[in-house]
Amino acid sequence: MSSLSGKQGPRYRHIAGEADPYETIAVEKLTPIIGAEITGVDIGKLVSDESRSNRQMDEIHRALAENLVIFFRDQHITPQQHLAFGRKFGELHVHPAAPNEGDPALMKIYADKDSPRANGEGWHSDVSCDLEPPMGSILYIKQCPPRGGDTLFANMYAAYDALSDRMKTYLDGLTALHDGEQAYRGLYANYGVADRPSYPSAEHPVIRTHPVTARKALYVNRGFTRHIIGIPRDESDAMLAYLYQHAENPLFQCRFRWTENAIAFWDNRCAQHRAMWDYWPHTRSGTRVTVKGERPA
Ligand code: SIN
Repeated sequence: MSSLSGKQGPRYRHIAGEADPYETIAVEKLTPIIGAEITGVDIGKLVSDESRSNRQMDEIHRALAENLVIFFRDQHITPQQHLAFGRKFGELHVHPAAPNEGDPALMKIYADKDSPRANGEGWHSDVSCDLEPPMGSILYIKQCPPRGGDTLFANMYAAYDALSDRMKTYLDGLTALHDGEQAYRGLYANYGVADRPSYPSAEHPVIRTHPVTARKALYVNRGFTRHIIGIPRDESDAMLAYLYQHAENPLFQCRFRWTENAIAFWDNRCAQHRAMWDYWPHTRSGTRVTVKGERPA
């Protein structure tokens, strides 16, 4: 783990500004850096009530932009309402490999005592191997283990900001290959899912600019990024190893403890996440709706 301490306090300093108050929701930050719990929203009602949804939707958009991942507890929604909530943020993305729960856009998230693995155990940004990777993912957990099964999130603006100016200059303009082949082939065999002939792969900037906030974010992850284009392979391996270690600094993270019927909505363009599979032999189960994004720039 790299140290971000200097002679005068932390080298990485997050300056939290005073935000305008919210009017239709309450926003309680988990850490100064990332994550906020939202109250005052009934998602089942929000998706069916067009007239009152706009103000609240604007504030949910704003809370996501300001906090990168937002959480809603005690939501009792049907699969159709989960899909409808996702559609309020854009067209839905269909996962290239994972099993679904009756609708191609409703991804199954499930692990129990017989599972060989759980979904999303390493740090990643969802499906970054797509040419247009998803902007956001909305995970609804219906069944929790008695303890464990948390999800960790990390702020990739903060990871970028904490790089030295020399490193920022070095990375500026570089692109990297993100490959689904290695990530997905055979991964869902335990659910009886047959492999596709091929999986997506795409080249993306190592540093991307968020289309809503215009902030720069580090955009390489252990799950999908294979190498940086145009530099020797050993240099790429060393650089990616450094960037992964840097991005995973706990200073940039929050950790969400699930309760049944909670929802996490994260922005894949500026946050990475990883799921903890520390609850075997217990069961954790839910569904994920994923919203399409744009080509990273
Ligand atoms: C995922 O990567 O979408 C799974 C996250 C989780 O199950 O907590």
